Amino acid sequence: MAYYSDEIIEEVRTRTDIVDVISRYVNLQKKGSQYFGLCPFHNEKTGSFSVSPQKQMYYCFGCGAGGNVFSFLMAYENMTFKEAVEELAPKCGVELPQREMTYQEKQRADRRSRLFEINKEAAAFYYKMLRSDAGKQALEYFTKRELSPETMHKFGLGCTNKYSDSLYKYLREKGYDDNILKDCGLITIDEKRGGHDKFWNRAMFPIFDANGKVVAFGGRVMGDGEPKYLNSPETEIFNKSKTLFGLYFARKTRRQQFILCEGYMDVIALHQAGFDNAVASLGTALTEGHAGMLKRYVKDVYLSYDSDGAGQKAALRAIPILKNAGISCRIIDMKPYKDPDEFIKNLGAEEYEKRIQNAENSFMYQVRMLQGRYDMTDPEKKSDFQKEAARMIVTEFPTQLERENYTESVAARFNIPKDALAKYILELGQQGITAKREPGEHAEFQKKQQKPKDDGMKMSQRLLLTWLVETPDIYSKISAYVKPTDFEEGVYKTVATEVFTALENGQSVDTAKIVDIFMEEEDRKTVAALFNTTVGELTDNSDLSKALKETLLRIKKNSLEQAQKNGADLKSLVEGKKTLQRLERLDITIV
Ligand code: GTP
Ligand code: MN
Repeated sequence: MAYYSDEIIEEVRTRTDIVDVISRYVNLQKKGSQYFGLCPFHNEKTGSFSVSPQKQMYYCFGCGAGGNVFSFLMAYENMTFKEAVEELAPKCGVELPQREMTYQEKQRADRRSRLFEINKEAAAFYYKMLRSDAGKQALEYFTKRELSPETMHKFGLGCTNKYSDSLYKYLREKGYDDNILKDCGLITIDEKRGGHDKFWNRAMFPIFDANGKVVAFGGRVMGDGEPKYLNSPETEIFNKSKTLFGLYFARKTRRQQFILCEGYMDVIALHQAGFDNAVASLGTALTEGHAGMLKRYVKDVYLSYDSDGAGQKAALRAIPILKNAGISCRIIDMKPYKDPDEFIKNLGAEEYEKRIQNAENSFMYQVRMLQGRYDMTDPEKKSDFQKEAARMIVTEFPTQLERENYTESVAARFNIPKDALAKYILELGQQGITAKREPGEHAEFQKKQQKPKDDGMKMSQRLLLTWLVETPDIYSKISAYVKPTDFEEGVYKTVATEVFTALENGQSVDTAKIVDIFMEEEDRKTVAALFNTTVGELTDNSDLSKALKETLLRIKKNSLEQAQKNGADLKSLVEGKKTLQRLERLDITIV
């Protein structure tokens, strides 16, 4: 359900200039009637990212990212639609109405916002504590771990003193009652003993959500002791399997990948060393929830888990979870050090950067870990390993291409006779052993497959729509021949209807408004593509006229074929044929 009315949304959109907004993030240069720059959504060296002040839209000819000013903020800042509206409204002087909430909505929202408040109060309390006399030991501890004052500040580090009810007392004084305090994760309320803090005598790490709000804490003993870390339990505002430590900072990185590690200290040490793309899942193994979060920001992840057995096991568990989410991952070798924190301390950022460059393909890592479990000096065990590696290739990769490439790499890397390996793989295939996924299932693969399918027919329809928007004069020449019903079902037809209706009424087409008919990111991208299809090299008017006629013919023929296939009634088919014949005889001239 939409939160704000269409009128309000439209007002914000029309009062905002997309060029102003995007210029805050991307260096834009004017070329003709458009602006161009380097696409912030994919890695490129030449600018294929265009922003059109006329259309109030952006579109990347390289990766297909596109939409209006709201889509931009949604994609770039990972905002929801509502957040994007709220971000822009005050900047263009639109006052947003406060929607009336139901009693339950209000109660829930109130509780959530109070829980956020309490966590924020606690973070400030712990933060000050670290910078007071009571925080001396913790400050020494952080300093000994080579954290700079700037880093401590950036991550909001703090500490608790040795009394077990200071926070409780503080929050009570601030006016919070037991009824809400018992659910904030930081206080336990006991019938007999009253309220007590969960954390005392610990170095404190606030955990921020993706928007920078404190939702929980981790607390470390200073020195040795058990348990090493205590974490807030899950609460109404803290879902462990959807929270990544460091995400608030990492989401702003300009790097194309995230580094995924295990601990608080790893993330902090990496950020301090300039790796502003490090995140960690906290005290829990990586979940599908985490993978889904990661997918919102990046396509590739580097695993920087501990180099010990536990870390290897965790990496082997994480790889398939990431792959299933469509994330490809590589594994960074930490050896001879235990974790990224120790690695950086000993070898520095430059060496770590090299390790990133040399990170291992996740499949090769899996095979290498497998090999570690076999005695390679025993020919029997060695053969067992090789057979298992072959089986892994078959079950992991559905296409012949991938299988051959991996056969070659695995054979070379693990010293397996290549022909024998290939032959065994073939046999496994003949025995009916197949891959876990279909060739089309892999996200990357799917994207590549969609492109060519998109080319012919849809291209003509896109071309015509862009044309109509950019040169509305042609509408009167074509409206007798092509109608919105000639366009493909779905986004194309909906958009065509909007465009034709506007032009029929002598209005200009509000392209940015049409984007907001659709809420799915994919659909919004499609709309952007519909309005940004170039006629290519055609500049000569007779060429243009010819191209337009061909485009119309193609759309009309296709639509007629479809109608025939779908068993349309005879009358409309005859109508259609007649229109087509008239169109074939038509002499369109564009001046
Ligand atoms: P240090 O460098 O020793 O401070 O810790 P680390 O950040 O390297 O953490 P480690 O690799 O030991 O553990 C990884 C993560 O698991 C930590 O950051 C915590 O989130 C979590 N963790 C570690 N020990 C405990 C524990 O005793 N209890 C709980 N609940 N979580 C823990
Ligand atoms: Mn550590």
